[in-house]
Amino acid sequence: MIASIHQEIHPIHVRGRTWQALSLRHQRRLVDRAFEFWRSEGFPVYRLSGDAMAGEFQALSSHPLKRFAEPGFSGSNVCLRVANSYHPQMWAVKVSRYLSPMDVFLDDYLLRKALQRAWTVWPDRFGANPATLRRMLKTFPGAASVSNFRPTAARNIIAALSDDGDTILDFSAGYGGRLMGALSLQRSYIGIEPCERQVDGLERALSFLRERNLTRGQADIVRGCAEDVLPTMPSRSFDLVFSSPPYYDWEKYSDEPTQSFIRHHPYENWLSGFLRPVIHDSYRVLRPSGHLAINISGRLRRPSFEEVRGIARQAGFRFRFPIALGLARVPYMHPRLGPRKEEQLLVWRKS
Ligand SMILES: C[S@@+](CC[C@H](N)C(=O)[O-])C[C@H]1O[C@@H](n2cnc3c(N)ncnc32)[C@H](O)[C@@H]1O
Repeated sequence: MIASIHQEIHPIHVRGRTWQALSLRHQRRLVDRAFEFWRSEGFPVYRLSGDAMAGEFQALSSHPLKRFAEPGFSGSNVCLRVANSYHPQMWAVKVSRYLSPMDVFLDDYLLRKALQRAWTVWPDRFGANPATLRRMLKTFPGAASVSNFRPTAARNIIAALSDDGDTILDFSAGYGGRLMGALSLQRSYIGIEPCERQVDGLERALSFLRERNLTRGQADIVRGCAEDVLPTMPSRSFDLVFSSPPYYDWEKYSDEPTQSFIRHHPYENWLSGFLRPVIHDSYRVLRPSGHLAINISGRLRRPSFEEVRGIARQAGFRFRFPIALGLARVPYMHPRLGPRKEEQLLVWRKS
């Protein structure tokens, strides 16, 4: 058994339980083989066939809609990896002072540790397969990664705050979770995004879904900064503004000068040059009774709820409610995050 594991079975087919039963020497040999495999393969980015992506998008489009506060409103992971697969650059994005998953992967010592840890913490999983390794690289001690907005949660939010035929503006389109949610419904979505690689990923995702004739809604991606593009948009032209603005400089999506944290700093200038004008313009471009829904981190990051609520009040919005959005489950007790990552969605109405 040990000889066959050591010589014949590919490390990606070995479960944690099996690895744990081996002698220390054989455990190390398996870690070495897995390490060599992943060094030659490169980072385990998502690789999905066209049919698999189409199938997931169809599953999203028929995903049962949930009402606010109903269990399951935060969504499932359906279609999340489809959206993520268009943004392989996500893995190298720096979050504050933490290592990115790519940093962990590229460091020989840390990659070996990550493989070993995956086999140690998940007895039932294949510790060195692509999905488990990605999970481990994201949650490795000292590492942090950016996340996408779950398409299923976006779909629920859009369905709850708008009607068929409505227009939606996403002033920081990010990695396309909200785009997918909007395309699964009969909505017209406009996403603004300055990061070149993200715009490229969003456009490729959109072209794929259009070519396959899968979308219920329509979408356009505008390359640019929200604070420049919004003032050019007509007043009272959207029914819903739904977005996830940057957390100032917490996540460095790119080093392009169009990133709001590079363009406007220090923080007070970011508030006055980015967040405030964008929220005020959101009010202007909304139709009366239209909603603004913004995703805020809710932890010790900027902007705080109070700052955003103050700006929205000055713009004329009436606050309706906060919604706790459970994000991806953390697969084991992570020292920094606890068992589940949570963010807040704040919802206002144009009075
Ligand atoms: C919180 S992130 C989005 C990632 C995310 N969790 C999502 O929902 O996909 C914020 C986004 O704002 C974008 N951004 C940065 N500067 C911007 C600007 N001046 N105008 C509009 N969007 C900007 C970033 O490139 C990033 O995609």
